[in-house]
Amino acid sequence: MSATSPVRPVLPPDIRARKGQAPLVVLTAYTTPVARLVDPHCDMALVGDSVGMVLHGMPSTLGVTMEMMILHGRAVVRGLSKAMPIIDMPFGSYEESPQQAYRNAARLMAETGAPCVKLEGGAHMAETIAFLTKRGVPVMAHIGLTPQSVNTLGGYKVVGREGEADAVMEDAIAVEAAGAFAVVLEKVPMGLAARITQRLEIPTIGIGAGVACDGQVLVVDDMLGLFTEFRPKFVKRYAELGALADAAIAEYAAEVRARTFPAEEHAFPDVLKGKQS
Ligand code: KIV
Repeated sequence: MSATSPVRPVLPPDIRARKGQAPLVVLTAYTTPVARLVDPHCDMALVGDSVGMVLHGMPSTLGVTMEMMILHGRAVVRGLSKAMPIIDMPFGSYEESPQQAYRNAARLMAETGAPCVKLEGGAHMAETIAFLTKRGVPVMAHIGLTPQSVNTLGGYKVVGREGEADAVMEDAIAVEAAGAFAVVLEKVPMGLAARITQRLEIPTIGIGAGVACDGQVLVVDDMLGLFTEFRPKFVKRYAELGALADAAIAEYAAEVRARTFPAEEHAFPDVLKGKQS
């Protein structure tokens, strides 16, 4: 499947129709090899703007560009044959106007082959979501903690406790009414996430929002133990690949220094015997 074959086996209406069925499984992916690992097990693979922090060492997602999303989006789409790709709209590519959002969303879809985009924001983005969905751009919304607004939110905090709960519910209702096919709830208290999930007809995909959501998403490098800069409470580590990689690299370094690597079997003889190469 490539940017020239846009019809994929799973499309946003199929995901929307999964409401009330088995939980939707989502992981991020930023490269072809990881997309290939994720593909058989997940319903969707999110090319998140978290790529900036996870793969490029950025301090936040704010520096992620359209070019980065296109490059990683293409790589992920190439690695997926079953799971539906979703591509994040980076900070500054959609907030100014529905027209700006449409231009950039259309470019992301055309140049990567992804059948939809994700953007952050609730009621204040409803007009843009409606503009996009009416023009052939399916939108996954993202409310609660919206990391691109870290500077106005004052940190990566839980959003929706006490006095904030009604506003988060209103955001959820607004993005659904605008035409979003699903909505990510990030760092929303679990009771509120359960009420939103009950209230909406579109699937909710939780990250730090409890088990009642219609699906779950995690950053793949977090759950594999590859991204260790910080560890949010909502991340469960299913593997410690970072520690495994560290041990393997240390062993390689020690063997190179001791001249025990490469061994004879990793080198090429000067004269071929039999069928060796
Ligand atoms: O960028 C990202 O990875 C995300 C998920 C955490 C939902 O938006």
